[in-house]
Amino acid sequence: MAVPISISRIADYDGRAVLLQGWLQNKRSSGKLRFLQLRDGTGVVQCVLFKGDVSPDLFERSAGLTQESSLRVRGVVREDRRSPLGYEIGVTDIEVVQESDPYPITPKAHGTAFLMDHRHLWLRSSRQHAILRVRSEVIRACRNYFDEREFVLTDSPIFTPSSCEGTTTLFQTDYFDDQAYLTQSGQLYLEASAMAFGKVYCFGPTFRAEKSKTRRHLTEFWMVEPEVAYLDLNGDMDLAEDFVSTVVQQVLTCRREELELLQRDLEPLERVRKPFPRISYTEAVDILNRSGVSHRWGDDFGGDEETVLAEHFDRPVLVHRYPASCKAFYMKGDPDDGRLALCMDMLAPEGYGEIIGGGQREDDLEELRRKIAEHRLDETPFQWYLDLRRYGSVPHAGFGLGIERTVAWICGLRHVRETIPFPRMLQRLYP
Ligand code: 4AD
Ligand code: MG
Repeated sequence: MAVPISISRIADYDGRAVLLQGWLQNKRSSGKLRFLQLRDGTGVVQCVLFKGDVSPDLFERSAGLTQESSLRVRGVVREDRRSPLGYEIGVTDIEVVQESDPYPITPKAHGTAFLMDHRHLWLRSSRQHAILRVRSEVIRACRNYFDEREFVLTDSPIFTPSSCEGTTTLFQTDYFDDQAYLTQSGQLYLEASAMAFGKVYCFGPTFRAEKSKTRRHLTEFWMVEPEVAYLDLNGDMDLAEDFVSTVVQQVLTCRREELELLQRDLEPLERVRKPFPRISYTEAVDILNRSGVSHRWGDDFGGDEETVLAEHFDRPVLVHRYPASCKAFYMKGDPDDGRLALCMDMLAPEGYGEIIGGGQREDDLEELRRKIAEHRLDETPFQWYLDLRRYGSVPHAGFGLGIERTVAWICGLRHVRETIPFPRMLQRLYP
């Protein structure tokens, strides 16, 4: 009995009888031959039925097999120079596990709304397959980066009693007799972990009730967040640029085939090496005004401003020291200029906008209490967070990288919706 093998491993079985388990992607006939394209998730291989090699019944039936029927195919691996894989299967038998109903996604072009409604099936297409493999690699690279550098994974909770990134994008939910919010960021809890372990990170889903329909916003997105005790803003920027260049280079090495399938221009990604340029918010405003985008000092940047700024650089750019009024309550103030926060954003090139937000945290108890009040937040649910400034407070910093925006950038996709298996957006909760 042949054991099941994956199509990606086929070269190891040249001349041997194998069993493949997959789905029928396409088929065609030519006289005494039938060609079935079998997909199993690791690759696609051509399976050839020769009339004389299989039962008359199977030969007859194979002509009518529908797209996406699930099949167990037995046959012999043989070299075929014309196929991209270098091998094909000489079929000896096929077991039809389920004959598919007429498949809604056909090779003809479909609109995005239709494809999004059929996201559960759309995942099977080669483009989606490539994107999600890149996503998987990005996540692996992120985890490896921190795991290999003495960071401890300390995941933060999803149910939280308070906001982290402003109260306007909170998802509220019942929590027995109380109410809770879905987390916007693991940061606050990560700060507690950093005081326990020194260097920590968390990786998980985060939620924001974003009422805007943009190509960069999801309501549920994944973030990887490191947090480090005794780190200042400069050290935080060093960490961010080393991290992002390492992740991009790993994906380029390990997922080149997928990026080529997506027709991604690899040259701009090859350039993603440190050091990254660093400019202050104030310098960024000057660049905008010189570029004909009039921008008032004090206003936050939106996607359009970020795109224009990034066009001035050939790799990601770090923008630091935004006005404190644009940023969250926990940011440490700049000792050299009280109007500014010791924060930074990393903007990706080619119009992909902000992929990282972070900075140094306020570590002084009274300053932090003042900021909580200034942001009109109730201090009660933050008592534990204030404790971190009572018991051995130290300078510390960290950041969060959005996985979907990073994948969109690396894959060269205009919209983030294809970078996550099942996107959640303002008008989408299905499938
Ligand atoms: O800049 P943000 O809001 O920073 C924080 O949440 C910090 N507490 C993180 C930290 O310091 N530990 O979000 C970080 C990143 C953004 O740069 C962006 O990549 C992504 O998260 N992001 C989103 N991605 C998709 N959809 C959204 N609605 C996003 N909001 C933020
Ligand atoms: Mg931000």
